[in-house]
Amino acid sequence: MNILAIETSCDETGIALLRVTGGLRAPRFEVIENLVASQIPIHRPFGGVVPNLAKREHLKNLPILFERLKKALRAEHHALKPDLIAVTVGPGLEPALWTGIGFAKELAKEYKVPLVGANHLEGHLYSFLLPSRSSKAYASALLPKKIFPAVALIVSGGHTILLRMESFVKWRRLGETRDDAAGEAFDKVARLLDLPYPGGPEIEKLAARGNSFAITFPRPMLDQKNYDFSFSGLKTSVLYYLRDAKLAKQKVNKADVAAGFEQAVVDVLVAKTRRAAQECAAESILLCGGVAANKHLRRALARTAGLIGCNFFVPDFKYNLDNAAMIGAAGYMAHLRKKRYPLRANGTLDV
Ligand code: KG4
Ligand code: ZN
Repeated sequence: MNILAIETSCDETGIALLRVTGGLRAPRFEVIENLVASQIPIHRPFGGVVPNLAKREHLKNLPILFERLKKALRAEHHALKPDLIAVTVGPGLEPALWTGIGFAKELAKEYKVPLVGANHLEGHLYSFLLPSRSSKAYASALLPKKIFPAVALIVSGGHTILLRMESFVKWRRLGETRDDAAGEAFDKVARLLDLPYPGGPEIEKLAARGNSFAITFPRPMLDQKNYDFSFSGLKTSVLYYLRDAKLAKQKVNKADVAAGFEQAVVDVLVAKTRRAAQECAAESILLCGGVAANKHLRRALARTAGLIGCNFFVPDFKYNLDNAAMIGAAGYMAHLRKKRYPLRANGTLDV
């Protein structure tokens, strides 16, 4: 089955074409094209995503990306013959989501194929199944490894969620953040340090030059016997640290602040995921969402998984941030399990 997928939930416009086989138990995804137009330079002066600007940019970028997709396919002598179209219906910014839904509806009419709504968070969840190249090698090498039961950590700009997964389609929520998402904390602390948006990659770069032991920031909720998170207090302690240093006219080593903050986030995410994996007797730990691009977090969680005898799965670097390939995967799974998300924007859609 060929799936054409559209993603416009936030500040990346994405269009992808996937060839999929294998069904619900052993899905295999071949990514034929995965095009992303990032709006980061447009939103950067505002320090975050401006919904109406995002909408305007998606409307402009969607037809351009679609033409690029057709051109790329022609160059490789592929025909664009989708069997299914998938589009993100939530969660995300509703004005942005509507642009993708409208565009996908037009395409479904033009190609006379069904249209399925996809859940952006399920896209992140399945993104570890996407191959790093247009080859089936990765997916087939991956599947013989034991995956389920799995503990999945979704860490993005809007979400921090721990799930226990029984299969690719059955899971239950163990915990989530009670306030800011992990990515949001990275973005807010970056702003305190005068770093540009999005803050995650900037903090990671700066932290690499700092000493993570120099400043000890709190590890919120680390000792609580639940699987919830809280990051807003951590952000406030960074704010107070910077304010106190300014009042005392002390020079601040920003790299040490970044490293201390990053270490605190990583410690909490890893400790809670480890306990969940042990208590669920998990075969594997899955890490996904934009913050999964953080190398420090990837390394720490991979090491922990090894220590407790779990397999560790994380998407290839090109599928951590928002993209349409993962939406193709989520659309395929939703289609097979007959999960019908209404074809309208749902900003607070959950997993
Ligand atoms: O999944 P994503 O692209 O969008 C949402 O669905 O929210 O995640 C974006 C978030 C942003 O908050 C960004 O700062 C964070 O992921 N992020 C990172 C890194 N790269 C992106 N956080 C920490 N380290 C990174 N390298
Ligand atoms: Zn996302």
